[in-house]
Amino acid sequence: MNSSLPCVALILLVLAGSASAAGDAKRGAQVFDDECSDCHTTTAGGKNGKGPVLFGLVGRTAGTVPGYDYSDANKASHFVWTPEQLEAYLPNPKGAIPGTKMRYAGVKDAGERADVIAFLQTLK
Ligand code: HEC
Repeated sequence: MNSSLPCVALILLVLAGSASAAGDAKRGAQVFDDECSDCHTTTAGGKNGKGPVLFGLVGRTAGTVPGYDYSDANKASHFVWTPEQLEAYLPNPKGAIPGTKMRYAGVKDAGERADVIAFLQTLK
């Protein structure tokens, strides 16, 4: 009977792990405030700053916010901003899009990244 206990513990650990991997939009809003808001706004019809407005980001193609002067590199990426694409881009934007004009080193912490991606998904 007792031999099943370690198994249950393992399942609980895996569940806890996947819950945190999904990210927390509230914590992500704080990360965004600290890391991204100098350059990006997040509201519908918001102004483009140093970077393009990120309202409606998830699901749209890179380089398509009207009135924002993107780098050729960003437009040529043809990335579609899915959560998976953001997970690949945000740790090292210049690595993912060589020649991008986003001067930002990246979100290195996996937990913070998951949180900020969860927040970005609420911008619709
Ligand atoms: C120092 C200013 C700056 C900071 C800080 C910054 N960005 Fe950017 N971001 C830019 C610029 C500039 C671009 C346009 C890149 C280009 O055209 O090459 C951009 C582009 C982007 C794009 C592509 C948008 C599109 O429409 O293709 C995403 C996604 C993005 N940033 C997310 C973030 C997130 C999330 C953070 C914080 C974790 C962040 N950025 C922090 C300046 C910044």
